[in-house]
Amino acid sequence: MSVDQVNQRKAVDAYVKKHLLPADEGLENAYTNSTKKGLPMIAVSEIQGKFASMLTTIGSARNVLEIGTLGGYSSIWFAQAMKGRGKVTSIEVIPHHRDVAIENLRTAGVQVPEEVDVLLGAALNILPRLAAEIEKREREPFDFVFIDADWDNQWNYFDFGVKLSKGKGSVIYIDNAVRNMLESGIVGDAEREKDAIDLVANVGADDRVDAVVMQTVGSKSYDGFLLAIVK
Ligand SMILES: C[S@@+](CC[C@H](N)C(=O)[O-])C[C@H]1O[C@@H](n2cnc3c(N)ncnc32)[C@H](O)[C@@H]1O
Repeated sequence: MSVDQVNQRKAVDAYVKKHLLPADEGLENAYTNSTKKGLPMIAVSEIQGKFASMLTTIGSARNVLEIGTLGGYSSIWFAQAMKGRGKVTSIEVIPHHRDVAIENLRTAGVQVPEEVDVLLGAALNILPRLAAEIEKREREPFDFVFIDADWDNQWNYFDFGVKLSKGKGSVIYIDNAVRNMLESGIVGDAEREKDAIDLVANVGADDRVDAVVMQTVGSKSYDGFLLAIVK
């Protein structure tokens, strides 16, 4: 692949969007209203949102756990894919993000909390509570876990994701796994951060899962995600 071809990534995304992602007012509003309300532009791209939501359809997921709600953009994608089949539980630490997410979800016609429940708090405080509820059978385990919050905790969230999962066949998706490994110096030229956690090595040594990392290029530049299936 030549550099010239990589430079066409935005044009390719625009072309794909035009033909495969029909305009959706609720999703578009989630982007514009989030920006208007001062949220950072760090939601997944349209194409990545569709791709991740299609994975839940392929796996007939019934309970999606999302860590990192922001303005609810990816939550809307998941809710649309799960319509009539299941529910999304999303965790967000910043109250203003949670409030904007609920507003955006409702504008998109998603019922809150019936279709998407947004839990406010630091994920590492909330996840043990979810684990206890699953243990007591007050909550169903998750069959799809989407990790898209603070990068330093990707491994902790992954570990919880496996523990909170339904078991065999459940999927864990970690966004930004490639940028994290490059920016923390685990791979490449950047100086290695003192406390860098080698997510991929940890996952590779974890007998509970089978996993792969897929590098991606698109309108949001170069990155990649880790995808794991619980054995
Ligand atoms: C990349 S954004 C999520 C984007 C969202 N998934 C989307 O694509 O529309 C990350 C979000 O995680 C939240 N976050 C960061 N650290 C967190 C933590 N410890 N617990 C819960 N949420 C956290 C941030 O406040 C931010 O809203």
